[in-house]
Amino acid sequence: MALIGVFDSGIGGLSILDEALRQLPEHNYIYLADSLHAPYGERSSEWIAARSLELCRYLSSQACDAIVVACNTATAQAIAHIRSELSNIPIIGVEPGIKPAALQSSKGIVGVLATEATLKSDKFNALLETLPSSCQFIKQAGAGLVPLIESGQANSEETLGLLAKHLEPIQDAGADTLVLGCTHYPFLRKAIRKLLGDSINLIDTSDAVVRQLKRKLEHLNQAPDRQQHGSITFISSKDAQALLSMSQELMQSDLSRHTLAWQLECNI
Ligand code: DGL
Repeated sequence: MALIGVFDSGIGGLSILDEALRQLPEHNYIYLADSLHAPYGERSSEWIAARSLELCRYLSSQACDAIVVACNTATAQAIAHIRSELSNIPIIGVEPGIKPAALQSSKGIVGVLATEATLKSDKFNALLETLPSSCQFIKQAGAGLVPLIESGQANSEETLGLLAKHLEPIQDAGADTLVLGCTHYPFLRKAIRKLLGDSINLIDTSDAVVRQLKRKLEHLNQAPDRQQHGSITFISSKDAQALLSMSQELMQSDLSRHTLAWQLECNI
């Protein structure tokens, strides 16, 4: 079985890990949350690039067979550099699903909620350029949302209030599709539904990311043994026990089927 490293600025990448456990439960995982430094989304490009590479080097030193950069912000700012520095293992990134959103939107009006660093990145803007100009994208930075989610307040009144403000321009433009362009935001689904109702189509790319991981593992001849459930080691730069309990609270997967460990790692 493969050892797969998954990292995010915090708990957002758990939305990707959850999908990975659904599709590929037999592998072993290290989930690395850099919660001490979250949020990344309002930091400089240079800082995000250097820190993301540092964390991937750490995962590689733990003998990971593949790494998932489960963070749109880190992917946007750093993935090319990470791939060139760690060319011996597959590095899978995550990008806002603006392409499927453009295809699925019947009105051609799409909201994109992502971090400021993702929205201003060259990578995101280059992807945007490839899409038909007939589709209108309303881009909105979700400032302040990640710290609320990190502190377990995905459904609090404060989060609802802030989210309502961020969603207003998207709602006013008449968008029928909303891209969840940050891996923390799938944990806001309930709050978004409360504010926008059931008719808006929510796009998150975790399924596509995990399918890509699966293809890369097949390439490495890591044949699945679907009978087994692998181990998960939760590593946090801030509070490993809090990370474990947030995982149990936020993820749909039955974590009791996996061997769990957790670890505080302050010196990465
Ligand atoms: N979860 C991250 C993303 O997908 C980063 C959020 C943050 O730290 O600002 O963009």
